[in-house]
Amino acid sequence: MCGIIGIVGKEAVAERLVDGLRRMEYRGYDSAGICTVHDGTLVRRRAEGKLANLANVLAKDPADGDVGIAHTRWATHGAPTAKNAHPHATDHVALVHNGIIENFRELKAELTAAGRTLESDTDSEVVAHLVSLQVEGGASPQDAVREVLPRLRGAFALAIAFRDYPDLLIGARRGSPLVVGFGDGETYLGSDALALAQLTQRIAYLEEGDWVVVTRDGAEIYDELGDLVERPIQLSGASAAAVEKGNYRHFMQKEIFEQPTVVAQTLGSYLRQSDNSVALPQFDFDISAVKRVTIVACGTSYYAGMVAKYWFEQFARVPVDIDFASEFRYREPVLEEGGLALFISQSGETADTLAALRHCKAEGQTIGVVVNVPTSSMAREADLLLPTHAGPEIGVASTKAFTCQLAVLAALAAHMAVRKGLMSRADEQEVVAHLLEAPAALNAALDHDDDIAAMAHLIAPARDVLYLGRGPDYPLAMEGALKLKEISYIHAEGYASGEMKHGPIALIDEAVPVIVLAPSGPLFEKTVSNMEEVRARGGKIVLISDAKGLEEAGEGCLATIEMPRVHPLIAPLVYAIPVQLLAYHVACVKGTDVDQPRNLAKSVTVE
Ligand code: G6P
Repeated sequence: MCGIIGIVGKEAVAERLVDGLRRMEYRGYDSAGICTVHDGTLVRRRAEGKLANLANVLAKDPADGDVGIAHTRWATHGAPTAKNAHPHATDHVALVHNGIIENFRELKAELTAAGRTLESDTDSEVVAHLVSLQVEGGASPQDAVREVLPRLRGAFALAIAFRDYPDLLIGARRGSPLVVGFGDGETYLGSDALALAQLTQRIAYLEEGDWVVVTRDGAEIYDELGDLVERPIQLSGASAAAVEKGNYRHFMQKEIFEQPTVVAQTLGSYLRQSDNSVALPQFDFDISAVKRVTIVACGTSYYAGMVAKYWFEQFARVPVDIDFASEFRYREPVLEEGGLALFISQSGETADTLAALRHCKAEGQTIGVVVNVPTSSMAREADLLLPTHAGPEIGVASTKAFTCQLAVLAALAAHMAVRKGLMSRADEQEVVAHLLEAPAALNAALDHDDDIAAMAHLIAPARDVLYLGRGPDYPLAMEGALKLKEISYIHAEGYASGEMKHGPIALIDEAVPVIVLAPSGPLFEKTVSNMEEVRARGGKIVLISDAKGLEEAGEGCLATIEMPRVHPLIAPLVYAIPVQLLAYHVACVKGTDVDQPRNLAKSVTVE
């Protein structure tokens, strides 16, 4: 949430800063700004709205200078206006911030009482003033920051520029990620390696509480206690090309179509094809002793966890608790000794999930992390690290990360069952063989893209849409509803098919399309009965099923979407495709901003 970049360069930085922001626009896009240090002044340019607006401002009114900081914002405190856009500045200091300063009200009161005038409604501006006060009083930038950081409560990544010190920037991290990039006679700060992909691959990840002084010669990193520390420089491997759309119209579309490849990649690192066995990394942990699994996640990752609950219970006969991270944190959960707490996250930085992880760690749980960004905070705090290999996901609505999470979770559930002695070798071979069928089945599902595009206009005018599913397709129904809400702004709800008659059925009329997810299989007949209840009340049905299911129940539907016939185990992966494509095409018909839907952000690093 919010993207930060800083450059101490040997040549002009403004254009490169904006380019870095472009790579991070997925983190927030309601306003943006930059500030360079040039000729003894701080040159600040800001604009409300998308980055293109800032680029226009800069075209008219350039910002010269070889040192600068920049920011793309997802508003927390204060409306997304130019006045509230970062950088925030005094005459001496300019600063960009990602996170929340929880005690900003008391700090603001203190500053106002001391006669300072703050311009914005943000929590961030207080930090600029606090640092400035120190500098105005004669402190060096290092001493100023050292003095101010302990006064801040909450989560932050900061990059600070100083008018009178044109050769350095200071960065700090607590709770929000920040990396240092090393170039040739230049040094960079960024929210992630992707932001710096065009500038350098040589990255050091700051640890919690670290702060750093960057100059053209490199970086001096201090820990929370103020001691000089070394953080290893790693090759990030972040590719600038991964952040390009290629021939696709939108990142989301590209990412939907990448799924056969990235799911195959992910399965490849958890399954052994030669003998159809599960092959998880070696952990120093006895998974057969696990008596309870606690799954915690947010958004789409939460729905992946809900699907996994069915698998853990079915295969490994282990009870599973699952909760939204924001709820879990504050409900005093009861955790079983020796339990496995599993955190699922694309970004590995979601604030609530990370806080829940730390809570479980403190309670002695073994921490499993299914995560797409291998250098993220969650990845670094995991006992069992289970990476998804989806590659960078840029579209705000998660797609390929979800199916890759499912791939990992299915392999983990099977692994646990094998270790517990609950899955025979023959059953393991069968399960693995079915999982390995997933990439081809995803391809077959994608073949129906044109059909889905052709029927999207039937859904686009709706005000409300219901999604129904049973068993592991119930979380899929909720995921479908979430996708539609996120990018087309149509109100949608996902329901367990059998639960519909306990409330949502009252909503049914010809204006409310009902999307039914019903692969043929053990639960098909039951779902079809619920579908008939909708039809009997004049409801308009879109049935998503395989050829057999459509033949049995497709007649009289508003539309049908055909899926390949697959084993129930991989149905949640395969049926993710039509719900993603449907949301995508409806959003295209409505002309909404698919990759950057209003009010959302890709990575939510605030509570
Ligand atoms: C945001 C994103 C969602 C994502 C959720 C959880 O809301 O817009 O796409 O599912 O955060 O993020 P995580 O990175 O933890 O999976």
